[in-house]
Amino acid sequence: MQSNKKLLVLPGDGIGPEVVNEVLRVVDWLAKKRSVTFDVEEGLVGGAAYDAHGTPLTDETLADAVDADAVLFGSVGGPQYDDLPFEEKPERGLLRLRKEMDLFANLRPAMVFEAMAGSSTLKRDLVAGLDILILRELTGGIYFAQPRGIEDLGDGTKKGFDTNLYTTPEIERIGRVAIDLARKRRGKVTSVEKANVMMSGVLWRETMTTLFSAEAEDLETEHMYADNCGMQLVRYPKQFDVIVTDNLFGDMLSDCAAMLTGSLGMLPSASLGAVDEVTGKRHALYEPVHGSAPDIAGQKIANPIAELLSFSMALRYSFEMSDDADMIDGAIERVLASGIRTPDIMADGMVRVSTNVMMDSILRELDNVV
Ligand code: IPM
Ligand code: MG
Repeated sequence: MQSNKKLLVLPGDGIGPEVVNEVLRVVDWLAKKRSVTFDVEEGLVGGAAYDAHGTPLTDETLADAVDADAVLFGSVGGPQYDDLPFEEKPERGLLRLRKEMDLFANLRPAMVFEAMAGSSTLKRDLVAGLDILILRELTGGIYFAQPRGIEDLGDGTKKGFDTNLYTTPEIERIGRVAIDLARKRRGKVTSVEKANVMMSGVLWRETMTTLFSAEAEDLETEHMYADNCGMQLVRYPKQFDVIVTDNLFGDMLSDCAAMLTGSLGMLPSASLGAVDEVTGKRHALYEPVHGSAPDIAGQKIANPIAELLSFSMALRYSFEMSDDADMIDGAIERVLASGIRTPDIMADGMVRVSTNVMMDSILRELDNVV
């Protein structure tokens, strides 16, 4: 049967295929138990695409991604690809998807499930109940701006350089997403840059200041330097609601925020494009914050929760299926509360399980609600 929900699945490398395959069991479950069918296609990305086609992302796969209602991404990379030329590295496949699909808004929630508050490296009361959102600009800044390169200086030395560049519209559009998200949350936006050192940071702060006074009078807004933000995240993370920042600072601060929760294996993300005024649709890619973890790949011990929570974000943001997303999130919460743990989140007195047994337990919980 043809469905109107096109999901392109790109498992990628390392633990990517292991966790994506587990999530496809939930896709099947939705078809069986909730009569919601997705039109699932699978493609190659990263090292897997390089091995098959000599490029980390083919034009065909890119076209499929643009055409899909949502892309569910696993992870890319592995030591066997370390010596490839820069443009052929697995990560370039992901970066090209982000850029060509114009996925400028990257939502990285860092929340702590009640049952997991003890797993953080921070003291329990600092993180229990934590629910913050890092909004990272994803298609601009130092990741993409020109000029960049490595040049010979002619004296036996070289220079390597990158450009950090943001325009007013780029800053405004990510700022508007932050405002929108904060309105649906606790009403606070922290805009983060280094306006004390960088010209792109000066423009970022000016633009956000103007935008906030024109469009976010109802919200609590503030500005913070990126280094201080890193420090505040580990000092007292609950002061934040939505943190909006550029591509590079967002990369770093979201890893830092991820660690507050106790496991990188638990955190999802959504990368969204602009809403098309005619169709009402937006390009979207959902991926866990964790990478391909080559050190544990193939051992069936990876935590599938970040990938499943990414799919749950897809249900929320691309398919208007918040009820089903709540159901999945609830099932995860109850499984964690029952003490079931993959090794990355294992603690005293808990039950250690493999990737697929974790998903068995989540599916059992789902069966209990329908
Ligand atoms: C991330 C990753 C990527 C990034 C890599 C894999 C290119 O670290 O999504 O945070 O730097 O953006
Ligand atoms: Mg990163």
